[in-house]
Amino acid sequence: MSGLVDVIACESSVCSIENSVLCYRGYPIDELADHATFEEVIFLLWHGRLPNQTELTYLQQSIIENATLPKKIYDLLSLYAPWGNCMAKLRTAVSFLTHFDDNVMDPSPDADSHKAILIITKMAAIIAAIDRIRNNLEPVDATTIQPTSLAELFLWLLKGEKPTAIATKALDKCLILHAEHELNASTFAARVTVSTMSDMYSGIVSAIGTLKGPLHGNANEQVALMLEEIGDLSRVEPYITDKINRNDRIMGFGHRVYKNGDPRAKHLKALSLELADWHQDRRWYDISVAIASLVQERKGLMPNVDFYSASVYMYLGIPHNIFTLIFALSRSSGWIAHILEQHANNKLIRPRANYTGKRDAVWIPLSDR
Ligand code: CMC
Repeated sequence: MSGLVDVIACESSVCSIENSVLCYRGYPIDELADHATFEEVIFLLWHGRLPNQTELTYLQQSIIENATLPKKIYDLLSLYAPWGNCMAKLRTAVSFLTHFDDNVMDPSPDADSHKAILIITKMAAIIAAIDRIRNNLEPVDATTIQPTSLAELFLWLLKGEKPTAIATKALDKCLILHAEHELNASTFAARVTVSTMSDMYSGIVSAIGTLKGPLHGNANEQVALMLEEIGDLSRVEPYITDKINRNDRIMGFGHRVYKNGDPRAKHLKALSLELADWHQDRRWYDISVAIASLVQERKGLMPNVDFYSASVYMYLGIPHNIFTLIFALSRSSGWIAHILEQHANNKLIRPRANYTGKRDAVWIPLSDR
């Protein structure tokens, strides 16, 4: 089956997508987007239930307390070329994190829980530091700030100042909406990796490498580039017509699972409008809406999660090159939930291929070739 379309590859209780309704552990995404915090979603994904106040406070504190990076990680980030691909930088840095954890190969639930916190928190700090270092700015010392959530921590480390409540809330919602999505390509890669009884870091590194592609997580950055290339509402029609005539893929549209619309897109569209009005600048929102209506009319394709998240991040003043890294930060919560599930009931994932190559080949000595 090309692309494993509709193939059921494992049993999972983390996430369901049934009749286009997306649920994390049974909770519809609409409920979570409207009521939850990202920390509640992290706990839900990892433990299968909502946290009580004590558990939530403990998780929030653990996140804040672990945000400092080993000095050698900053040294590594300083070695990167400023213009280098930021997802590649993140992939290498997360891999390097392995060397600072004494329990890397211990798959016990306690060791895995500790790794989970370290990974998600330090990823936030690494992403912020990648962006600051490439812009010749000093990374922010996490011990000098007092954030109350991962979203606030990340924006504070990125921008070097306390973010506004509206920016923190907007990012928190984006993190919730991107957190988990069943057996998408990066989650599958993570599960395959740890099914060999490899460690959680290796699973996350595989997943980051997989999310990096434009058919998956990098579509959000491509959407931002498209919005900037279009630049003005009047250019939407000729630009999209040209793309369609050339049979180009239009980034941020279409989905392997959702054929009648991605349930996350409406939340991101509303958020984009809210931020546009907050900035008193609807340019990116208006261009996005015009593209969406044209692509739907001409190609019958609907926006996916990556489409409106681009304008949301643009309004939040986040540079394009780290959009996909924010997706990775959020999705690491889902990757970890799947890694924990895989470790808890492991079976090596090793499918078969339908052989279509040559048969009965006869060996030709090198001198005769
Ligand atoms: N622009 C133009 N044509 C498209 C698009 C698009 N965005 N998406 C699908 N199509 C066409 C495609 O050309 C194909 O046409 P035909 O049958 O004539 O060859 C048909 O629709 C089916 O596409 P497919 O690629 O076979 O379908 P798929 O289920 O393998 O692809 C997809 C899903 C997400 C890879 C695809 O829709 C795509 O490339 N979208 C653009 C990239 C993107 O936005 N990715 C983010 C996905 S959602 C979040 C995430 O996973 O990160």
